[in-house]
Amino acid sequence: MKVLFVCLGNICRSPTAEGVFRRALEQAGLADDVEIDSCGVGSWHVGKAPDARAQQAALSRGIDLSSLRARQLTEQDFAEFDYVLGMDQDNLRAMRELKPDNSQAHVGLFLDFAGTPGAEVPDPYYGGDEGFENVLTMIEAASAGLIQHLKCER
Ligand code: 4NP
Repeated sequence: MKVLFVCLGNICRSPTAEGVFRRALEQAGLADDVEIDSCGVGSWHVGKAPDARAQQAALSRGIDLSSLRARQLTEQDFAEFDYVLGMDQDNLRAMRELKPDNSQAHVGLFLDFAGTPGAEVPDPYYGGDEGFENVLTMIEAASAGLIQHLKCER
């Protein structure tokens, strides 16, 4: 099983999702069964490490994002990944535009797995530190829900 997290820049929300979900997989004993990655629909930050505020917020919960590097979503991702999960409705629109018609991937919002269909992980880039805490809390809830979903799929 392969899961790809998608946001706009791949420096705040989706690397946070990758780090949080990786730990959730390890805690659930599923680390060997699920491959994960993250990317952005935009190209501005390609090659960069996650935003310092996102790294700090994750580190305060014991999650190290420092080795991650931003990349852009490609058409090929829709052939490679089983789940392509966006953080907000703008991401989802851009993902659907790029998705080839023959792709079997599940393309949707990450927070659908938190029991809040249609809800968005808000972009924290232009806000304060509390925005990054809020993102982490939402992503932890969605990660737990996605773990349960994948367990049922196995
Ligand atoms: P992300 O946050 O999509 O969660 O990585 C953003 C990062 C950068 C920009 C916007 C959102 N930006 O406009 O550069």
